[in-house]
Amino acid sequence: MAKIETVGIIGFNVMGAAIGLNAATCGYRVIYKELNDELVKAMYDRWVTGALEKRVAKGKMTQEEMDKVTGLISGTADYKDMASCDLIIEAAIEKMEIKIQIFKDLDAVCRPDTILASNTSTFLIEKLMDGISNPGRTAGLHYFFPANINRLVEVIRQKATSDETFDALMAFSEKNRKVPIKVNDFPGFAINPVFISSYMVLTDFFGDKYNAATLDEISKQALGVRYGIMWVLNGSGLGTAYHAAASMNEYLADSDVGYPPTPMPLKTRFESGKPWDLEDGPILDDQAALDVVKERLLGTIFAISTHLIEKDVVSLQDLELGIRTSLAWPKGPFTMMNEMGMAEAARLVKVVVENGLFKMPKTFAEGVPAAWQL
Ligand SMILES: NC(=O)c1ccc[n+]([C@@H]2O[C@H](COP(=O)([O-])OP(=O)(O)OC[C@H]3O[C@@H](n4cnc5c(N)ncnc54)[C@H](O)[C@@H]3O)[C@@H](O)[C@H]2O)c1
Repeated sequence: MAKIETVGIIGFNVMGAAIGLNAATCGYRVIYKELNDELVKAMYDRWVTGALEKRVAKGKMTQEEMDKVTGLISGTADYKDMASCDLIIEAAIEKMEIKIQIFKDLDAVCRPDTILASNTSTFLIEKLMDGISNPGRTAGLHYFFPANINRLVEVIRQKATSDETFDALMAFSEKNRKVPIKVNDFPGFAINPVFISSYMVLTDFFGDKYNAATLDEISKQALGVRYGIMWVLNGSGLGTAYHAAASMNEYLADSDVGYPPTPMPLKTRFESGKPWDLEDGPILDDQAALDVVKERLLGTIFAISTHLIEKDVVSLQDLELGIRTSLAWPKGPFTMMNEMGMAEAARLVKVVVENGLFKMPKTFAEGVPAAWQL
């Protein structure tokens, strides 16, 4: 396997461009592919010159630094130009058939040792890479929005991924000044199963009794965050949030993990085309009613996090680190459980299991377990 010097990016929009700029800023040569010559130019103007000129104007970057970065990035509409890449990160539109075709096309033009990685949010890496020659070189490399700021990267191993490929991707992420965590292939990987179920359970309460302002406040208090979950959803887009929720439910609801039902209030809101109104009235003044939601939210986070550890999707330490880094929660789920006491954590897990949101994790099946070894 060659040293990674040239990085290919397929799809140069929000995510692909941020990943490419990050790599070029760290000294890698970047070749991106878009659908046609017009898009190649439009994406370059928008994400490369457009974005960097603004940084120079604000004094955050010198003209010399900008020239160095722009000199490392080129675009193409032709797969043949990707042949010199040592690593290719696919960040095209989230459609399974399109991604599968992209990897087939890459397989035909790239060297047999070129590492092929996908930045998909929802598809199993194993499925996207099915039939690719030399599958030891395939993996997932999942960046988080906004990828120029959010430091977490999930390095995803599918069954076929070789140690050499995995190690090369960990080292690549570190050289890009990211915080990589090791994750095994699983629906949504490690962080999204936690985050998505959190907002599914929270938004399901939206209605006459709980307004958006109240739900946002409950999430702030439960997690100790500055920006509540409803606010974050407005930023990431309710359409994306709804589709991710539906697909996670489809993947896991009938499995031995379980997953919450797709929340109707989230669907209705996304279809209305409006974000949550975070000033839609006073915050509910009823502690018992607030506690119902808070307990359901925390129980959800504890149940899914425990399932992820039991399934060996991620280590406890990496899940703690990943959640703090990507979601900016001050504490990871296992620290939260230890701090509140395992008897209370077990009670909250039982509440969500009894409400049919998750299956009972083994750790909690026999009653109150010992505190987590952090
Ligand atoms: N946006 C997020 O918050 C986020 C976060 C993490 C991961 N992701 C994942 O990253 C990927 C990209 O996300 P995005 O928001 O930038 O998507 P997007 O749909 O905005 O952009 C995709 C780009 O890919 C291009 N494209 C499509 N087919 C192509 C092909 N065959 N060859 C070359 N280019 C092609 C499109 O022209 C477009 O510019 C998706 O898989 C998404 O799930 C997104």
